[in-house]
Amino acid sequence: MEYLVLKNSDLKVSRLCMGGCPMGGYGWGDTREAELTAAVHTALDQGVTMFDTADTYGLGQSEITLGKALGSHRKDVVIATKFGVRVGGGKTTYDNSPEWIKTACDASLNRLGTDYIDLYQVHYRDSKTPVSVVIDALEELKKCGKIRYFGLSNIYESDIEELKPFVGKFISFQDEYSLACRKNEIQMRSIAEELQMNPMTWGSLGQGILTGKYTKESTFGADDRRSRDIYVNFHGDKLLKNLEIVDVMKEIALKHNKPVSAVAIRFILDYFPDSVVLCGAKRPSQVLGNVEGADWHLDKEDIRKLDEVSK
Ligand SMILES: NC(=O)c1ccc[n+]([C@@H]2O[C@H](COP(=O)([O-])OP(=O)(O)OC[C@H]3O[C@@H](n4cnc5c(N)ncnc54)[C@H](OP(=O)(O)O)[C@@H]3O)[C@@H](O)[C@H]2O)c1
Repeated sequence: MEYLVLKNSDLKVSRLCMGGCPMGGYGWGDTREAELTAAVHTALDQGVTMFDTADTYGLGQSEITLGKALGSHRKDVVIATKFGVRVGGGKTTYDNSPEWIKTACDASLNRLGTDYIDLYQVHYRDSKTPVSVVIDALEELKKCGKIRYFGLSNIYESDIEELKPFVGKFISFQDEYSLACRKNEIQMRSIAEELQMNPMTWGSLGQGILTGKYTKESTFGADDRRSRDIYVNFHGDKLLKNLEIVDVMKEIALKHNKPVSAVAIRFILDYFPDSVVLCGAKRPSQVLGNVEGADWHLDKEDIRKLDEVSK
């Protein structure tokens, strides 16, 4: 496994982070708690030390499953969770108010079965609470020992100026990035550099399309988010383009004797040397496929081919 220390912190994390979205048990088709628990144990055995979740994944179920699965290993890992999205009364709203931050943090601690969160992330900004107010509320949680560090997610290049005076406060940010989704690449580089934060990529496997197991005939049930058109990686021209990318990935995977998922992950690890790659997994075999992304490199020709087909 490869590790790095997140900037402006003493958090040492594995560069492959287990993503907790499927652990919510909702919207990913067939997910089973026993397999998800076994997947967490496999990740631990393989040297994965960072686990990402959010209070909204499965409306809290992801945090519960993760906390239980980690058990006595909790002290050995970095738990990253998120707040700021409220689901209730049939609607979803964003809320970064100090009152909600406090309430959400206590609820996450309770569900995770821990008394501290290592990295507490703003899932989405609410476009009304000033950033200084959010920081004050998070600093207060730090003082109480409820969180160790805080980070951001889903921010834009246009946020840079507003966030610049607070460099060093937020230590990381998450954004969607993969060989199937390179539209955020330039903005991620600017944010990482100007705000001195480590980028963390979500949807790193293109929600599964970059594992090489799907074809243009693949379909998903109504209980799977990927059946919906907004999961563009699995629909229309974008799906066909992704399958072209996967064909190139398959060649490269064969050459290096790696699974296709490992090529998806390795591309990000090599292309963004300061990054942490988040990958959701539903069972141990998927974790094993993903950890094969660590500890090797793509050569220049591989990168050129992947770059060309995915640009
Ligand atoms: N900050 C944010 O707003 C945000 C948004 C989304 C996600 N995230 C975080 O980022 C993490 C990663 O994103 P994601 O989970 O949405 O998508 P992803 O990692 O791109 O894809 C995950 C899916 O790919 C399939 N898969 C994983 N490993 C595989 C393997 N080795 N072989 C075959 N199939 C495999 C599984 O689904 P199937 O087996 O059903 O294909 C799995 O659920 C999340 O879990 C979450 O922690 C953050």
